[in-house]
Amino acid sequence: MADPQLLTVERRDDGVTVITLANGKVNALSSALLAELHAVASDLAVDPPGAVVITGGDRIFAAGADISEFGGPDEAGAITEGFHSALDAVAAIPRFVIAAVSGYALGGGCELALACDYRIASEKAVFGQPEILLGIIPGGGGTQRLPRTVGVSRAKEMCITGRQVRADEALRIGLADEVVPPDELHDRALALAATVAAGALEAQRLTKAAIDQGMSTSLEAGLAIERDAFVEVFRSDDSRIGVASFLEHGPGHATFTGR
Ligand code: COA
Repeated sequence: MADPQLLTVERRDDGVTVITLANGKVNALSSALLAELHAVASDLAVDPPGAVVITGGDRIFAAGADISEFGGPDEAGAITEGFHSALDAVAAIPRFVIAAVSGYALGGGCELALACDYRIASEKAVFGQPEILLGIIPGGGGTQRLPRTVGVSRAKEMCITGRQVRADEALRIGLADEVVPPDELHDRALALAATVAAGALEAQRLTKAAIDQGMSTSLEAGLAIERDAFVEVFRSDDSRIGVASFLEHGPGHATFTGR
């Protein structure tokens, strides 16, 4: 792909790739930014790093869809398709993807955070699906990923009132997984990502796939997915390394290869 203009991608030596949204002062998720995010996420699926951190601006993680692109139903169709393909591509990265949310994550910003595997929020972070205040609804996965994260009734309340949720409440309802002081956000996200990146990446890939696929099917079908993944993981080098290391040295001493 051509070099992205509306986000930056840093591939670090510790195996962590950091994607930083950089679209002006409110980080609106314009169709151009979403196209760049789709391309970057697709590249990361083909040539995955060890882990990914997605972050935004200091005061605004992302203010949602670019409202200036709104029009009628035709424009709406293109906008929701752009969101779904970009955010599905983020969700399909076969690695642990952490959202580091510094400030406002509204509308599509909240939906992008929801498409990540884990959300670390600064104490100043604010989440919300305010689309209803524009007389519209979430179109970037909010009606589907939010209830799967915070439960049906809380998701309905948030989407139907447009109420913004501060970091402490986000932590309580499971929308944020950790809350840290603002000046610790970057380091905490990078440290967790680096630890994960040094782990058994094939086992991580299979874990993420089994959980994600299992969450959208029956328990019975999900257990079948797990059985297949459990057999598959024993084909990895790291399973041999991890089991041998355990038998010789006990838990937690293996040095994995990522294969
Ligand atoms: N799309 C396009 N432009 C946006 C935008 C968006 N999602 N969010 C903000 N802007 C624009 C504002 O219109 C304003 O433009 P102007 O400088 O030409 O007047 C500029 O960005 C700054 O916004 P402002 O509201 O003045 O900044 P703020 O710091 O007071 O508040 C937010 C920041 C993010 C809290 C607030 O802008 C906001 O709530 N944005 C809308 C969020 C939303 O509804 N998202 C869902 C979209 S469906």
